[in-house]
Amino acid sequence: TSAFPIISQEEVATHRSLEHGVWVTYKGGVYDITEFVAMHPGGDKILLAAGGALEPFWALYAVHNQEHVLEMLSEYKVGEL
Ligand code: HEM
Repeated sequence: TSAFPIISQEEVATHRSLEHGVWVTYKGGVYDITEFVAMHPGGDKILLAAGGALEPFWALYAVHNQEHVLEMLSEYKVGEL
């Protein structure tokens, strides 16, 4: 069990803009990264993943395959799929 609420994929998909919030999923976790978008070292590319899974993008941009990136992501967790 976990302290985080269960959030559906459909709900995540409604959050794909700065206006409505930017949510992404990664390995079963749901993250509200709205506040992080402006701080992203890779710029607006991060919005390509808005409302869906990070995995296909991080498979292409291996720079994310580092402990410090996952720690950063964990701070934005809001739920689980
Ligand atoms: C770089 C975080 C999503 C593209 C980075 C770096 C961090 C980061 C911390 C710098 C890594 C380093 O140099 O040590 C994140 C987080 C994401 C996310 C937390 C999602 C929540 C994405 C997505 C894309 C992307 C979806 C592409 C579609 C890039 C690129 C760089 C980068 C191209 C390299 C920038 C450069 O060094 O010029 N990201 N990223 N990122 N990210 Fe992301």
